[in-house]
Amino acid sequence: MSKATAIAHPNLAFLKYWGKRDSTLNIPINNSISMNLDAVQTVTTVEFDAALTNDEVVVLEQGGSSRARFDQRVSRHLDRLRSLAESALPARVITRNSFPAGTGFASSASGFAALTLAGAAALGLKLSERELSILARMGSGSASRSIPDGIVEWLAGDSSDTSYARQLVPPDYWALVDIAVIVSREEKKVSSSEGHELAVNSPFWPVRLETLPGKYARMSQAIRERDFSTFGRELESEAMMMHTIMMTSAHIDGESWRSGIYYWTGDTLTLVQAVQEWRAQGLQVYFTLDAGPTVHLICLEAESDTVLSAVRALAEQSGRAHWSLTVNRPGMGARLTEAHLPTP
Ligand code: PMV
Repeated sequence: MSKATAIAHPNLAFLKYWGKRDSTLNIPINNSISMNLDAVQTVTTVEFDAALTNDEVVVLEQGGSSRARFDQRVSRHLDRLRSLAESALPARVITRNSFPAGTGFASSASGFAALTLAGAAALGLKLSERELSILARMGSGSASRSIPDGIVEWLAGDSSDTSYARQLVPPDYWALVDIAVIVSREEKKVSSSEGHELAVNSPFWPVRLETLPGKYARMSQAIRERDFSTFGRELESEAMMMHTIMMTSAHIDGESWRSGIYYWTGDTLTLVQAVQEWRAQGLQVYFTLDAGPTVHLICLEAESDTVLSAVRALAEQSGRAHWSLTVNRPGMGARLTEAHLPTP
C-alpha cells in the first residue's frame, strides 16, 4: 500500500510538558499526563508517489477551500519514516482539522500523530504503539500522547527509545468532561518551542523540578482511583505552577531584557475566579490552561450540564458573546481509516 489515512485527536495535558531535556529529540524534563479530546480531530492522508518531484503538503481549510503549504517540519518528519522504510519516494500529504486554527487546540499534536500513523502505514512499516509514539514525539513533543487511547502518560525517559506515551486508563474508564471556553482567536505571541527554552529562567524552576515526581505520583493515582477532588486540586495547582513559571521567566537576553510570558487575558481571570465561586457553591469543577488564554473546565459527566449552564449564564451577564464552547470527553488514540481525503 502506498496510500493511507489516519485520524488523531489533540490532547489536553493534566500534568504539563514544559521544558525539554533534549530539544532536538523532544525529550521532556518530566513525565506528563493528558486526555485525548474526542470532539476535535485531524484527518491526514499520505500517499507516496514516484511521479512527484518533491513532498507536497495540502491543508484543507474549513468550508472546502484548499491551501497548499510546503511545510519543512512535515518533510523532515517524512524523512524519519522514509529512512526506516529505506524509501526515497516523495509524498503528497493532505490534511484537515475539524477545528479552525486559533481556537485554542494544538493542531501539532493531532497533526503529527496522524501524519506518523498514516505515513508509516503508507510505507508498509509495521510499528508498535510505542514506536509510533516515539516517532510522533520527534515531530512535536505532545504528539506522542495522541497515539494511545484515552488518558495517557508520557514517560520522560532519558533517551529517545525510553521517551514515549502509553495508556494510563482507557477512554470509558472515567466519565471526565472538558468544557473548553475559547475566549480569544488571536494567534499566541510566544510559541511553545520558545517557551520550553525560557522556562529555566524562572526562579521557581528548581521548585518545579523538586515537586514534579510527587505531582506525577499523586495525579496518576487519583486517575486510577477515580478520585475527582484529589485529581482536581492537582490539576489546578499544576496549571497555576506552569503559568507561574511562564510569567516569571523574564531574563537578560544579550543587551536587552525579555519579560515573562503572559498567555492570560482578562477573560481568563474572569473564568478562573468564576470556577472558585462555583466550587464554593458546591459545584465540583476545576480548571486547567495550556499555552494560551483558553480555559478548560473539567468536571464529571453528572455535573457537565450544570457547568455548561453556569458558563453560558456568565457569558451572557458579562457581555462575553465572543466566547465559544467545545465539549470533549476522553477520546481514542490515532487510528487508520479507509476514508481517504480527496486530492484537490
Ligand atoms: O508540544 P508542544 O511543544 O507544543 O508543547 C505543548 C505544551 C503545553 O501544551 C503547554 C503543555 C502540554 O503538556 O501539552
